[in-house]
Amino acid sequence: MDRLPIDREVQHLTLSEQTRSRIDREVAKYPADQKQSAVIASLTIVQREQGWISPAAERAVADYLGMPAIAVHEVVTFYNMFNTQPVGRFKLNVCTNLPCALSGGTSALKHLCDRLGVAPGETTADGLFTVQEAECLGACGDAPAMLVNDQRLCSFMGPERLDSLIEQLRDEAAKGESK
Ligand code: FES
Repeated sequence: MDRLPIDREVQHLTLSEQTRSRIDREVAKYPADQKQSAVIASLTIVQREQGWISPAAERAVADYLGMPAIAVHEVVTFYNMFNTQPVGRFKLNVCTNLPCALSGGTSALKHLCDRLGVAPGETTADGLFTVQEAECLGACGDAPAMLVNDQRLCSFMGPERLDSLIEQLRDEAAKGESK
């Protein structure tokens, strides 16, 4: 990943009372001496509230769970679902691992980028779409496969289906529908 906040001074961030209370509910699911087992749930809560995990948020979660900052950083940078920088309203992850690549995954990524005028990893100027490459989504038989906002799996994403997905998401955004 493209950042290493551990050796740098990171801005201090105080978790809100609401965030802490949500994290506390997750921590309570584990033995008292294993608070760090709630790290993924805690980061998910922070990301849902802030849209991404900043270096300051990493440090705040580490402090709150009594973990080394590097351990939280490793989790954040290992899982694709955690955003290490701000993303658009719709995060589009296109699988380009071998089974998908052999069935149009690479061209699906290119088509999406061309349609939206961005390179992989970039966000459209209107803040609606971020396009990223993804590792195997476990849907190799549905190649090319992609994921919208880490939750919605889309199958057989050839050019036509990609175009209609973009239109559908633009409609959703215009109507103010939730993610
Ligand atoms: S290789 Fe794309 S979903 Fe498995």
